[in-house]
Amino acid sequence: MSVVLRTAASEGVAGLVLRPWAERDIPELIEAYRDPVMRRWTRLHVTGEQDARRWLEVQWAGWEGGERLSFAVFEPVGGSGELRLVGNVALKGLASGGSRAEVGYWTAAGARGRGVAARALERMTTWAFEAFGGDGLECLRLLHQVDNLASCRVAGKCGYALEGVLPAHPPFPLEGHVHARYAASVPTSVGPAGVPPGGEAG
Ligand SMILES: CC(C)(COP(=O)(O)OP(=O)(O)OC[C@H]1O[C@@H](n2cnc3c(N)ncnc32)[C@H](O)[C@@H]1OP(=O)(O)O)[C@@H](O)C(=O)NCCC(=O)NCCS
Repeated sequence: MSVVLRTAASEGVAGLVLRPWAERDIPELIEAYRDPVMRRWTRLHVTGEQDARRWLEVQWAGWEGGERLSFAVFEPVGGSGELRLVGNVALKGLASGGSRAEVGYWTAAGARGRGVAARALERMTTWAFEAFGGDGLECLRLLHQVDNLASCRVAGKCGYALEGVLPAHPPFPLEGHVHARYAASVPTSVGPAGVPPGGEAG
């Protein structure tokens, strides 16, 4: 399955393109992981080309097995038609016929604070319920350590309500928040509506 998702552009905000990770993304992936904030809040780290290939293989295996569907997130560079990597959003722990899965995301340091994570997460969430709701998917969970306030805010903006607190779990030393969104929830107002899945991009 190769899925490309897009968010529509709105005034002053470029549309995002979400597509499965590709080998040509390696340099931008390595660059994104140079940021210490990324390394603090994510489990799998990328410090060079070998790590990047391993990281990509995890993503490709996920698509192949259907249990981890991750998207590289891009935005256009000016009017050049070129795309720049701005983030990652992933659907994790998907099981055939399963009612629950988990979401994860990061935004490259230079693109934070512009709603990239929220818009990409909203788009993937809508798609996930459309694509897998018929197969039983009812609930998406979002976990973050309690002091990851930016992530907590993204959850809130995308209609993932706080449902509980989890005990600390390595590699994260503090308790975690569990947020959830249900297939039947009212759509959120994050960003413009998505546009239908399309062909290859990036
Ligand atoms: C969490 C993360 C993905 C957010 O990405 P982003 O594209 O900047 O997210 P958005 O712009 O959609 O929203 C971020 C929100 O958090 C807010 N925020 C940012 N830092 C904050 C802080 N220290 N305290 C409180 N709120 C904060 C922003 O103001 C914004 O809210 P607003 O839209 O109401 O102004 C990004 O910070 C990141 O990649 N962090 C490292 C990896 C990570 O933590 N991933 C999630 C693991 S659970």
